[in-house]
Amino acid sequence: MNRNIPLDAFWMPFTANRQFKASPRLLVGAKGMFYQSDDGREILDGTAGLWCCNAGHGHVEIADAVRDQLMSLDFAPTFQMGHPIAFEFADRLRNIAPDGFDHVFFTGSGSESVDTALKIALAYHRARGEGSRTRLIGRERGYHGVGFGGISVGGLVNNRRMFGSLLTGVDHLPHTHLPQNAFTRGQPEHGAELADELERIVALHGAETIAAVIVEPLAGSTGVLVPPKGYLERLREITRKYGILLIFDEVITGFGRLGAPFASQALGVVPDMFTTAKGITNGALPMGAVFAQGFVHDAFMNGPESAIELFHGYTYSGHPVAAAAGIATLDVYEKGGLLTRAAELAPYWEEAMHGLRDAPFVKDIRNLGLVAGIELESRADAAGARGYDVFVECFHAGLLIRVTGDTIALSPPLIVDTAQIDRIADTIREMLARVA
Ligand SMILES: Cc1ncc(COP(=O)(O)O)c(C=O)c1O
Repeated sequence: MNRNIPLDAFWMPFTANRQFKASPRLLVGAKGMFYQSDDGREILDGTAGLWCCNAGHGHVEIADAVRDQLMSLDFAPTFQMGHPIAFEFADRLRNIAPDGFDHVFFTGSGSESVDTALKIALAYHRARGEGSRTRLIGRERGYHGVGFGGISVGGLVNNRRMFGSLLTGVDHLPHTHLPQNAFTRGQPEHGAELADELERIVALHGAETIAAVIVEPLAGSTGVLVPPKGYLERLREITRKYGILLIFDEVITGFGRLGAPFASQALGVVPDMFTTAKGITNGALPMGAVFAQGFVHDAFMNGPESAIELFHGYTYSGHPVAAAAGIATLDVYEKGGLLTRAAELAPYWEEAMHGLRDAPFVKDIRNLGLVAGIELESRADAAGARGYDVFVECFHAGLLIRVTGDTIALSPPLIVDTAQIDRIADTIREMLARVA
Protein backbone atom coordinates (compact mmCIF):
# COMPACT_ATOMS: atom_id res chain seq x y z
CA MET A 1 0.00 0.00 0.00
CA ASN A 2 1.22 3.40 -0.92
CA ARG A 3 -0.97 5.60 1.25
CA ASN A 4 1.59 8.26 2.09
CA ILE A 5 1.07 10.10 -1.19
CA PRO A 6 -0.03 13.70 -0.59
CA LEU A 7 -3.43 13.80 -2.29
CA ASP A 8 -4.40 17.35 -1.52
CA ALA A 9 -2.70 19.45 -4.20
CA PHE A 10 -3.99 17.72 -7.34
CA TRP A 11 -7.42 19.19 -8.11
CA MET A 12 -8.78 16.21 -9.95
CA PRO A 13 -10.85 16.51 -13.14
CA PHE A 14 -14.44 15.25 -13.34
CA THR A 15 -14.03 13.82 -9.84
CA ALA A 16 -15.76 14.14 -6.48
CA ASN A 17 -12.45 15.27 -4.97
CA ARG A 18 -13.38 15.03 -1.28
CA GLN A 19 -15.03 11.64 -1.64
CA PHE A 20 -12.13 10.30 -3.69
CA LYS A 21 -9.43 11.59 -1.36
CA ALA A 22 -11.19 10.05 1.63
CA SER A 23 -11.05 6.68 -0.08
CA PRO A 24 -8.69 6.78 -3.07
CA ARG A 25 -8.37 4.29 -5.90
CA LEU A 26 -4.82 4.41 -7.21
CA LEU A 27 -3.35 2.66 -10.22
CA VAL A 28 0.42 2.23 -10.22
CA GLY A 29 1.17 -0.02 -13.18
CA ALA A 30 -0.28 -1.43 -16.39
CA LYS A 31 0.58 -4.21 -18.80
CA GLY A 32 -1.50 -5.74 -21.56
CA MET A 33 -5.13 -5.97 -20.44
CA PHE A 34 -4.45 -5.23 -16.78
CA TYR A 35 -3.84 -2.35 -14.44
CA GLN A 36 -2.15 -2.87 -11.13
CA SER A 37 -3.54 -1.10 -8.07
CA ASP A 38 -1.41 0.34 -5.28
CA ASP A 39 -2.43 -2.56 -3.04
CA GLY A 40 -0.98 -5.01 -5.55
CA ARG A 41 -4.17 -6.23 -7.23
CA GLU A 42 -4.61 -6.87 -10.95
CA ILE A 43 -7.52 -4.96 -12.44
CA LEU A 44 -8.90 -5.96 -15.82
CA ASP A 45 -9.21 -2.89 -18.02
CA GLY A 46 -12.78 -2.77 -19.27
CA THR A 47 -12.46 0.78 -20.60
CA ALA A 48 -9.08 1.05 -22.41
CA GLY A 49 -8.17 3.58 -19.74
CA LEU A 50 -10.53 6.30 -20.87
CA TRP A 51 -11.25 5.01 -24.38
CA CYS A 52 -7.53 5.54 -25.19
CA CYS A 53 -5.40 2.42 -24.88
CA ASN A 54 -6.82 0.46 -27.79
CA ALA A 55 -3.74 -1.77 -27.99
CA GLY A 56 -3.64 -2.40 -24.23
CA HIS A 57 -0.84 -1.24 -22.00
CA GLY A 58 2.93 -1.20 -21.82
CA HIS A 59 4.04 -1.55 -25.43
CA VAL A 60 7.82 -1.64 -25.68
CA GLU A 61 7.73 -0.37 -29.30
CA ILE A 62 5.90 2.79 -28.23
CA ALA A 63 8.22 3.32 -25.25
CA ASP A 64 11.33 2.87 -27.42
CA ALA A 65 10.03 5.29 -30.05
CA VAL A 66 9.31 7.90 -27.38
CA ARG A 67 12.72 7.58 -25.76
CA ASP A 68 14.56 7.65 -29.10
CA GLN A 69 12.65 10.70 -30.24
CA LEU A 70 13.21 12.52 -26.95
CA MET A 71 16.93 12.01 -27.27
CA SER A 72 17.15 12.97 -30.96
CA LEU A 73 14.68 15.91 -31.11
CA ASP A 74 12.65 16.56 -27.98
CA PHE A 75 10.78 19.58 -29.26
CA ALA A 76 10.75 21.84 -32.26
CA PRO A 77 8.15 24.38 -33.37
CA THR A 78 5.75 23.76 -36.23
CA PHE A 79 4.96 27.43 -36.85
CA GLN A 80 6.71 28.48 -40.07
CA MET A 81 9.09 25.54 -39.72
CA GLY A 82 8.82 21.82 -39.27
CA HIS A 83 10.36 18.49 -38.41
CA PRO A 84 10.08 15.32 -40.50
CA ILE A 85 8.25 13.10 -38.05
CA ALA A 86 5.09 15.24 -37.94
CA PHE A 87 4.84 15.12 -41.75
CA GLU A 88 5.48 11.39 -41.72
CA PHE A 89 2.79 10.81 -39.12
CA ALA A 90 0.21 12.93 -40.97
CA ASP A 91 0.91 10.91 -44.10
CA ARG A 92 0.55 7.60 -42.24
CA LEU A 93 -2.73 8.78 -40.75
CA ARG A 94 -4.25 9.80 -44.04
CA ASN A 95 -3.46 6.37 -45.41
CA ILE A 96 -5.86 4.73 -42.94
CA ALA A 97 -8.57 7.39 -43.33
CA PRO A 98 -11.38 7.17 -45.90
CA ASP A 99 -10.44 8.44 -49.38
CA GLY A 100 -10.39 12.19 -49.65
CA PHE A 101 -9.17 13.03 -46.14
CA ASP A 102 -5.89 14.31 -47.44
CA HIS A 103 -5.01 16.73 -44.66
CA VAL A 104 -4.43 16.40 -40.95
CA PHE A 105 -4.25 19.26 -38.42
CA PHE A 106 -2.56 18.22 -35.19
CA THR A 107 -3.77 19.22 -31.74
CA GLY A 108 -3.02 18.18 -28.17
CA SER A 109 -6.35 16.60 -27.14
CA GLY A 110 -9.89 15.78 -28.14
CA SER A 111 -11.19 19.11 -26.85
CA GLU A 112 -8.63 20.96 -28.95
CA SER A 113 -9.54 18.84 -31.96
CA VAL A 114 -13.19 19.80 -31.58
CA ASP A 115 -12.49 23.50 -31.22
CA THR A 116 -10.11 23.29 -34.19
CA ALA A 117 -12.71 21.60 -36.40
CA LEU A 118 -15.37 24.16 -35.46
CA LYS A 119 -12.98 27.02 -36.22
CA ILE A 120 -11.95 25.48 -39.54
CA ALA A 121 -15.64 25.14 -40.45
CA LEU A 122 -16.31 28.82 -39.75
CA ALA A 123 -13.16 29.96 -41.54
CA TYR A 124 -13.85 27.65 -44.50
CA HIS A 125 -17.16 29.32 -45.27
CA ARG A 126 -15.63 32.74 -44.83
CA ALA A 127 -12.74 31.88 -47.13
CA ARG A 128 -15.31 30.95 -49.78
CA GLY A 129 -17.19 34.20 -49.39
CA GLU A 130 -20.03 32.75 -47.30
CA GLY A 131 -19.17 34.54 -44.08
CA SER A 132 -22.84 34.56 -43.02
CA ARG A 133 -22.52 30.88 -42.14
CA THR A 134 -21.66 31.29 -38.47
CA ARG A 135 -24.07 28.94 -36.71
CA LEU A 136 -22.92 25.64 -35.28
CA ILE A 137 -25.30 22.77 -34.65
CA GLY A 138 -24.61 20.12 -32.03
CA ARG A 139 -26.88 17.57 -30.42
CA GLU A 140 -28.52 17.02 -27.05
CA ARG A 141 -26.49 14.59 -24.91
CA GLY A 142 -23.45 15.15 -27.15
CA TYR A 143 -19.99 15.31 -25.60
CA HIS A 144 -17.30 17.21 -27.45
CA GLY A 145 -14.76 17.88 -24.74
CA VAL A 146 -14.52 20.86 -22.46
CA GLY A 147 -13.34 23.83 -24.53
CA PHE A 148 -15.87 26.64 -24.92
CA GLY A 149 -16.62 25.49 -28.46
CA GLY A 150 -17.05 21.90 -27.37
CA ILE A 151 -19.34 22.65 -24.43
CA SER A 152 -21.37 25.03 -26.57
CA VAL A 153 -22.19 22.40 -29.18
CA GLY A 154 -22.22 19.66 -26.53
CA GLY A 155 -25.45 18.68 -24.88
CA LEU A 156 -24.61 17.47 -21.37
CA VAL A 157 -26.16 19.93 -18.98
CA ASN A 158 -23.67 19.47 -16.13
CA ASN A 159 -20.84 20.38 -18.47
CA ARG A 160 -22.60 23.58 -19.57
CA ARG A 161 -24.65 25.14 -16.83
CA MET A 162 -21.83 26.48 -14.67
CA PHE A 163 -20.04 28.26 -17.47
CA GLY A 164 -22.06 31.24 -18.56
CA SER A 165 -23.67 31.92 -21.88
CA LEU A 166 -21.20 29.96 -24.03
CA LEU A 167 -20.94 30.55 -27.79
CA THR A 168 -23.84 32.36 -29.38
CA GLY A 169 -25.51 31.09 -32.53
CA VAL A 170 -25.54 27.44 -31.49
CA ASP A 171 -28.53 25.13 -31.85
CA HIS A 172 -28.99 21.46 -31.01
CA LEU A 173 -30.53 18.45 -32.68
CA PRO A 174 -32.52 16.11 -30.44
CA HIS A 175 -30.68 13.14 -28.99
CA THR A 176 -31.36 9.69 -30.42
CA HIS A 177 -32.27 7.78 -27.26
CA LEU A 178 -35.70 6.19 -27.76
CA PRO A 179 -37.25 3.81 -25.22
CA GLN A 180 -38.67 1.60 -27.99
CA ASN A 181 -35.10 0.72 -28.99
CA ALA A 182 -34.29 -0.84 -25.59
CA PHE A 183 -32.13 -3.98 -25.76
CA THR A 184 -31.41 -3.57 -29.45
CA ARG A 185 -28.36 -5.45 -30.65
CA GLY A 186 -26.28 -3.12 -32.80
CA GLN A 187 -27.91 -0.21 -34.59
CA PRO A 188 -31.53 0.37 -33.54
CA GLU A 189 -34.47 0.36 -35.95
CA HIS A 190 -36.18 3.52 -34.74
CA GLY A 191 -35.00 7.09 -34.92
CA ALA A 192 -33.64 7.85 -38.40
CA GLU A 193 -36.33 10.53 -38.65
CA LEU A 194 -34.73 12.45 -35.75
CA ALA A 195 -32.16 13.67 -38.29
CA ASP A 196 -35.01 15.48 -40.07
CA GLU A 197 -34.98 17.93 -37.18
CA LEU A 198 -32.10 19.49 -39.05
CA GLU A 199 -34.62 20.50 -41.71
CA ARG A 200 -36.58 22.33 -39.01
CA ILE A 201 -33.43 24.09 -37.78
CA VAL A 202 -32.57 25.09 -41.35
CA ALA A 203 -36.11 26.40 -41.84
CA LEU A 204 -35.84 28.38 -38.61
CA HIS A 205 -32.45 30.00 -39.15
CA GLY A 206 -31.84 29.80 -42.91
CA ALA A 207 -29.23 27.50 -44.41
CA GLU A 208 -27.06 30.48 -45.27
CA THR A 209 -26.43 31.05 -41.53
CA ILE A 210 -25.32 27.50 -40.70
CA ALA A 211 -21.66 26.51 -40.91
CA ALA A 212 -21.54 22.97 -39.55
CA VAL A 213 -23.22 20.11 -37.75
CA ILE A 214 -21.11 18.14 -35.30
CA VAL A 215 -22.11 14.77 -33.85
CA GLU A 216 -20.45 11.76 -32.33
CA PRO A 217 -21.16 8.88 -34.74
CA LEU A 218 -21.67 6.79 -31.59
CA ALA A 219 -22.24 8.92 -28.51
CA GLY A 220 -20.01 7.60 -25.73
CA SER A 221 -19.78 9.86 -22.72
CA THR A 222 -23.52 10.29 -22.36
CA GLY A 223 -23.82 6.56 -21.80
CA VAL A 224 -23.39 4.89 -25.20
CA LEU A 225 -26.06 5.84 -27.71
CA VAL A 226 -25.80 3.86 -30.93
CA PRO A 227 -26.93 5.70 -34.07
CA PRO A 228 -30.30 4.44 -35.38
CA LYS A 229 -30.19 2.78 -38.78
CA GLY A 230 -30.32 5.42 -41.48
CA TYR A 231 -29.83 8.34 -39.08
CA LEU A 232 -26.29 9.33 -40.04
CA GLU A 233 -27.12 8.78 -43.71
CA ARG A 234 -30.01 11.22 -43.36
CA LEU A 235 -27.83 13.81 -41.61
CA ARG A 236 -25.34 13.45 -44.43
CA GLU A 237 -28.04 14.01 -47.05
CA ILE A 238 -29.46 17.09 -45.40
CA THR A 239 -26.10 18.71 -44.66
CA ARG A 240 -25.03 18.13 -48.26
CA LYS A 241 -28.28 19.54 -49.60
CA TYR A 242 -27.75 22.82 -47.74
CA GLY A 243 -23.97 23.21 -48.05
CA ILE A 244 -23.49 22.63 -44.33
CA LEU A 245 -20.28 20.87 -43.26
CA LEU A 246 -20.74 17.60 -41.39
CA ILE A 247 -18.18 16.92 -38.64
CA PHE A 248 -17.92 13.57 -36.91
CA ASP A 249 -16.32 13.61 -33.49
CA GLU A 250 -14.35 10.36 -33.57
CA VAL A 251 -12.34 10.97 -30.40
CA ILE A 252 -13.55 7.65 -28.98
CA THR A 253 -14.65 5.84 -32.13
CA GLY A 254 -11.36 6.40 -33.94
CA PHE A 255 -8.62 3.80 -34.21
CA GLY A 256 -10.54 0.58 -34.46
CA ARG A 257 -13.25 0.83 -31.79
CA LEU A 258 -16.10 -0.05 -34.16
CA GLY A 259 -14.23 -2.60 -36.29
CA ALA A 260 -12.68 -0.27 -38.88
CA PRO A 261 -10.04 2.42 -38.43
CA PHE A 262 -12.79 5.05 -38.16
CA ALA A 263 -16.54 5.01 -37.55
CA SER A 264 -17.15 6.59 -40.94
CA GLN A 265 -15.74 3.42 -42.53
CA ALA A 266 -17.53 1.07 -40.13
CA LEU A 267 -20.87 2.82 -40.66
CA GLY A 268 -20.46 3.82 -44.31
CA VAL A 269 -21.17 7.52 -43.87
CA VAL A 270 -18.44 9.98 -44.74
CA PRO A 271 -18.33 13.44 -43.12
CA ASP A 272 -16.37 16.48 -44.31
CA MET A 273 -14.09 16.57 -41.27
CA PHE A 274 -13.54 14.35 -38.29
CA THR A 275 -11.82 14.82 -34.96
CA THR A 276 -9.59 12.32 -33.17
CA ALA A 277 -7.35 12.01 -30.08
CA LYS A 278 -6.93 9.30 -27.41
CA GLY A 279 -6.17 6.16 -29.44
CA ILE A 280 -3.99 8.19 -31.81
CA THR A 281 -1.04 7.48 -29.46
CA ASN A 282 -2.70 4.59 -27.62
CA GLY A 283 -3.06 7.12 -24.81
CA ALA A 284 0.69 7.14 -24.24
CA LEU A 285 1.10 10.86 -24.87
CA PRO A 286 -1.43 13.64 -25.33
CA MET A 287 -2.25 14.28 -28.96
CA GLY A 288 -5.20 14.85 -31.26
CA ALA A 289 -5.82 15.40 -34.95
CA VAL A 290 -8.49 16.83 -37.20
CA PHE A 291 -8.87 15.15 -40.59
CA ALA A 292 -10.16 17.38 -43.38
CA GLN A 293 -11.34 16.53 -46.85
CA GLY A 294 -9.23 17.99 -49.64
CA PHE A 295 -11.88 20.52 -50.63
CA VAL A 296 -12.00 21.96 -47.10
CA HIS A 297 -8.25 22.43 -46.97
CA ASP A 298 -8.04 23.71 -50.55
CA ALA A 299 -10.55 26.49 -49.89
CA PHE A 300 -7.86 28.12 -47.74
CA MET A 301 -5.11 27.87 -50.34
CA ASN A 302 -6.20 30.71 -52.63
CA GLY A 303 -4.52 33.86 -51.31
CA PRO A 304 -0.92 34.95 -51.80
CA GLU A 305 1.57 32.17 -51.07
CA SER A 306 3.22 34.29 -48.40
CA ALA A 307 -0.04 34.57 -46.41
CA ILE A 308 -0.70 32.36 -43.39
CA GLU A 309 -3.90 30.60 -44.41
CA LEU A 310 -5.27 29.67 -40.99
CA PHE A 311 -4.52 31.69 -37.88
CA HIS A 312 -4.81 28.74 -35.58
CA GLY A 313 -2.47 26.20 -33.99
CA TYR A 314 -0.98 25.01 -30.74
CA THR A 315 2.60 25.01 -29.46
CA TYR A 316 2.26 21.24 -29.39
CA SER A 317 0.61 20.76 -32.81
CA GLY A 318 2.62 17.89 -34.29
CA HIS A 319 4.82 17.51 -31.19
CA PRO A 320 7.73 15.30 -32.29
CA VAL A 321 7.57 12.93 -29.32
CA ALA A 322 3.81 12.52 -29.59
CA ALA A 323 4.19 11.97 -33.34
CA ALA A 324 6.80 9.29 -32.66
CA ALA A 325 4.44 7.63 -30.20
CA GLY A 326 1.70 7.87 -32.81
CA ILE A 327 3.73 6.22 -35.56
CA ALA A 328 4.78 3.41 -33.23
CA THR A 329 1.14 3.06 -32.18
CA LEU A 330 0.02 2.69 -35.80
CA ASP A 331 2.70 0.01 -36.23
CA VAL A 332 1.36 -1.86 -33.18
CA TYR A 333 -2.23 -1.53 -34.43
CA GLU A 334 -1.33 -2.71 -37.91
CA LYS A 335 0.90 -5.57 -36.78
CA GLY A 336 -1.80 -6.86 -34.44
CA GLY A 337 -4.66 -6.36 -36.91
CA LEU A 338 -6.26 -4.23 -34.19
CA LEU A 339 -7.93 -1.67 -36.42
CA THR A 340 -10.37 -4.34 -37.59
CA ARG A 341 -10.29 -6.80 -34.69
CA ALA A 342 -13.41 -5.32 -33.06
CA ALA A 343 -15.41 -6.52 -36.07
CA GLU A 344 -14.33 -10.12 -35.40
CA LEU A 345 -15.02 -9.91 -31.67
CA ALA A 346 -18.27 -7.95 -31.92
CA PRO A 347 -20.63 -10.98 -32.14
CA TYR A 348 -19.09 -12.59 -29.02
CA TRP A 349 -19.07 -9.26 -27.22
CA GLU A 350 -22.71 -8.61 -28.13
CA GLU A 351 -23.78 -12.04 -26.87
CA ALA A 352 -21.89 -11.62 -23.58
CA MET A 353 -23.25 -8.14 -22.96
CA HIS A 354 -26.86 -8.98 -23.79
CA GLY A 355 -26.51 -12.04 -21.55
CA LEU A 356 -26.74 -9.50 -18.68
CA ARG A 357 -30.31 -8.64 -19.60
CA ASP A 358 -31.72 -10.58 -16.63
CA ALA A 359 -29.18 -9.22 -14.10
CA PRO A 360 -30.52 -7.00 -11.29
CA PHE A 361 -31.52 -3.41 -12.20
CA VAL A 362 -30.68 -3.72 -15.91
CA LYS A 363 -32.99 -1.44 -17.88
CA ASP A 364 -31.33 -1.40 -21.31
CA ILE A 365 -28.25 -2.78 -23.07
CA ARG A 366 -26.74 -1.13 -26.14
CA ASN A 367 -23.72 -2.26 -28.16
CA LEU A 368 -21.75 -1.66 -31.33
CA GLY A 369 -18.24 -2.81 -32.23
CA LEU A 370 -16.36 -3.22 -28.95
CA VAL A 371 -18.54 -0.78 -27.03
CA ALA A 372 -21.42 -1.50 -24.72
CA GLY A 373 -23.70 0.54 -22.51
CA ILE A 374 -25.60 -1.15 -19.70
CA GLU A 375 -28.21 1.19 -18.33
CA LEU A 376 -29.44 0.54 -14.79
CA GLU A 377 -32.61 1.62 -13.04
CA SER A 378 -31.82 4.69 -10.96
CA ARG A 379 -32.51 4.75 -7.25
CA ALA A 380 -35.41 6.99 -6.33
CA ASP A 381 -34.08 10.53 -5.80
CA ALA A 382 -30.47 9.43 -6.25
CA ALA A 383 -29.65 9.32 -9.95
CA GLY A 384 -26.13 8.01 -10.46
CA ALA A 385 -25.71 6.55 -6.96
CA ARG A 386 -26.25 2.94 -8.00
CA GLY A 387 -23.91 3.35 -10.98
CA TYR A 388 -21.21 4.73 -8.72
CA ASP A 389 -21.60 1.87 -6.26
CA VAL A 390 -21.25 -0.68 -9.07
CA PHE A 391 -18.13 1.11 -10.29
CA VAL A 392 -16.54 0.95 -6.82
CA GLU A 393 -17.55 -2.69 -6.29
CA CYS A 394 -16.14 -3.67 -9.69
CA PHE A 395 -12.89 -1.86 -8.95
CA HIS A 396 -12.49 -3.81 -5.72
CA ALA A 397 -13.39 -7.01 -7.51
CA GLY A 398 -10.65 -6.41 -10.11
CA LEU A 399 -12.51 -4.81 -13.03
CA LEU A 400 -12.28 -1.24 -14.29
CA ILE A 401 -15.57 -0.01 -15.73
CA ARG A 402 -16.80 3.48 -16.46
CA VAL A 403 -20.13 4.87 -15.41
CA THR A 404 -21.99 7.94 -16.50
CA GLY A 405 -24.95 8.41 -14.26
CA ASP A 406 -26.44 4.95 -13.97
CA THR A 407 -25.09 3.67 -17.27
CA ILE A 408 -22.07 1.41 -17.34
CA ALA A 409 -19.93 2.13 -20.42
CA LEU A 410 -17.53 -0.56 -21.56
CA SER A 411 -14.81 -0.28 -24.18
CA PRO A 412 -11.99 -2.74 -23.45
CA PRO A 413 -8.67 -2.63 -25.29
CA LEU A 414 -9.00 -4.25 -28.72
CA ILE A 415 -6.62 -7.03 -27.61
CA VAL A 416 -9.25 -8.42 -25.22
CA ASP A 417 -9.87 -12.18 -25.51
CA THR A 418 -13.11 -14.08 -25.11
CA ALA A 419 -12.25 -15.35 -21.61
CA GLN A 420 -11.69 -11.76 -20.52
CA ILE A 421 -15.00 -10.73 -22.10
CA ASP A 422 -16.67 -13.45 -20.03
CA ARG A 423 -14.90 -12.18 -16.95
CA ILE A 424 -16.14 -8.64 -17.58
CA ALA A 425 -19.72 -9.88 -17.90
CA ASP A 426 -19.48 -12.24 -14.90
CA THR A 427 -17.98 -9.59 -12.63
CA ILE A 428 -20.64 -7.06 -13.54
CA ARG A 429 -23.39 -9.63 -12.90
CA GLU A 430 -21.93 -10.47 -9.48
CA MET A 431 -21.48 -6.85 -8.51
CA LEU A 432 -25.01 -5.94 -9.60
CA ALA A 433 -26.25 -8.61 -7.22
CA ARG A 434 -24.23 -6.99 -4.45
CA VAL A 435 -25.43 -3.38 -4.70
CA ALA A 436 -28.70 -2.05 -3.37
C1 LIG B 1 -16.45 12.41 -28.38
C2 LIG B 1 -15.42 13.14 -27.57
N1 LIG B 1 -14.97 14.32 -27.98
C3 LIG B 1 -14.04 15.01 -27.30
C4 LIG B 1 -13.53 14.50 -26.13
C5 LIG B 1 -12.53 15.30 -25.36
O1 LIG B 1 -11.27 14.76 -25.41
P1 LIG B 1 -10.14 15.26 -24.38
O2 LIG B 1 -10.58 14.82 -23.03
O3 LIG B 1 -8.89 14.60 -24.89
O4 LIG B 1 -10.07 16.75 -24.50
C6 LIG B 1 -13.96 13.26 -25.66
C7 LIG B 1 -13.42 12.70 -24.42
O5 LIG B 1 -13.88 11.71 -23.91
C8 LIG B 1 -14.95 12.58 -26.38
O6 LIG B 1 -15.45 11.40 -25.95
